[in-house]
Amino acid sequence: MSKLTVKDLNVRGKRVLMRVDYNVPMEEKDGQMVINDDTRIKETLPTLKFLANQGAKVILMAHLGRPKGQRDPSLSLRPVAAKLADLLGKPVAFVDDCIGEKVEKTAGALQPGDVLLLENVRYYLEEEANDPVFSEKLAKVADIYVNDAFGAAHRAHASTEGVARVVAKRGGQCAAGLLMERELKFLGDELDKPVRPFVVILGGAKVSDKIKVINNLLEKADSILIGGAMAYTFRLAMGSKVGKSLVEPDKTDLALSALEKAKARKVQFLLPSDNVVATPVKTDKLNKKGKPVIDIVNPRVNEGVDIPDTEEGVDIGPATAKAFSEVVHKAKTILWNGPMGIFEDPRFAEGTFAVARAVVEATQNNGAKSIIGGGDSVKALNKAKLGDKVTFMSTGGGASLEYLEGQVLPGVAALADNS
Ligand code: 3PG
Ligand code: MG
Repeated sequence: MSKLTVKDLNVRGKRVLMRVDYNVPMEEKDGQMVINDDTRIKETLPTLKFLANQGAKVILMAHLGRPKGQRDPSLSLRPVAAKLADLLGKPVAFVDDCIGEKVEKTAGALQPGDVLLLENVRYYLEEEANDPVFSEKLAKVADIYVNDAFGAAHRAHASTEGVARVVAKRGGQCAAGLLMERELKFLGDELDKPVRPFVVILGGAKVSDKIKVINNLLEKADSILIGGAMAYTFRLAMGSKVGKSLVEPDKTDLALSALEKAKARKVQFLLPSDNVVATPVKTDKLNKKGKPVIDIVNPRVNEGVDIPDTEEGVDIGPATAKAFSEVVHKAKTILWNGPMGIFEDPRFAEGTFAVARAVVEATQNNGAKSIIGGGDSVKALNKAKLGDKVTFMSTGGGASLEYLEGQVLPGVAALADNS
């Protein structure tokens, strides 16, 4: 069922309380917090401009990091208000709280088209507890509730779920923003009724993180290509030698059941046939967390599926990259989530970049819809400077995974259906 969106509302002169996901990476530079990646802020601009043009008084709420009820100044949203004003090309008001008199006063003085950002909702423990009294306090400044925070929609928190219930109960409208609508379209509808062949590329470290996604997509995909360290758990399950590769020995049963399901459903299920391997060596150095630093030395291509005892797999090999690319080139719908290797290290990035190029080629030459499921695959595409050459990149991390697992997201469930 599709959701009510901002396009269905009459917002003129109304106070629209909108949840956004401004949980952006930040870093301290010369005593100031600086935003490293403003993608999540930029992606809310269409909804903000739309609402402002329609004459709404926009009040934004968001979280930053996990302050756990403490007023941690390094997790203040104030720098985000400044960045948003830059991007919007007009002033954005900021209040250093998200509930209370000051908020109500500032919200009450807003004119149609104005934008106000409230301070980090997680400065209150009640936010993550989805406390009903706190939700009532947030809702005080809302005539209408809008959720554009797909990346936080897997959380049943006061600002993502509770406040929507309060607004709905008193007869107010609760709608999706334009970013939320796009996320649900590409990660939901487009994959439920994909143009075929539908090729899924999954990577990342752990089978346990991705098994529900694999099981759900085995119902829909024509091909599933597996890379990243989780491929070694599959290989272990099939009786291969994995050397010192990162594996989950207690998850081999899950891997085997996925392989059986693929066979039963006639889904092409490809694992790497070769790998880049390297030798891990302990050093005397300690990392920030006090753990010994492991150097990874002597990378080489290992043909075949057995990895020698002293080495670990760190990327897919060239034969695998070629085989995966051939499958991707024929696709009409592509979903990619998770890197093929330790792409942060340039020595082990080629497999991930080869897949990224194949996804872009299929998009450009075969008219494929390419959908990138957020997190590390987005980072990898941006690193390869290919981010603007795919159909859609999700702003969600955990949220996109849970949505791809087929779960109902609490922040989405709380919005009105469009009947
Ligand atoms: C994210 O960055 O994944 C979202 O903003 C959710 O943040 P959280 O994992 O701290 O709830
Ligand atoms: Mg997270």
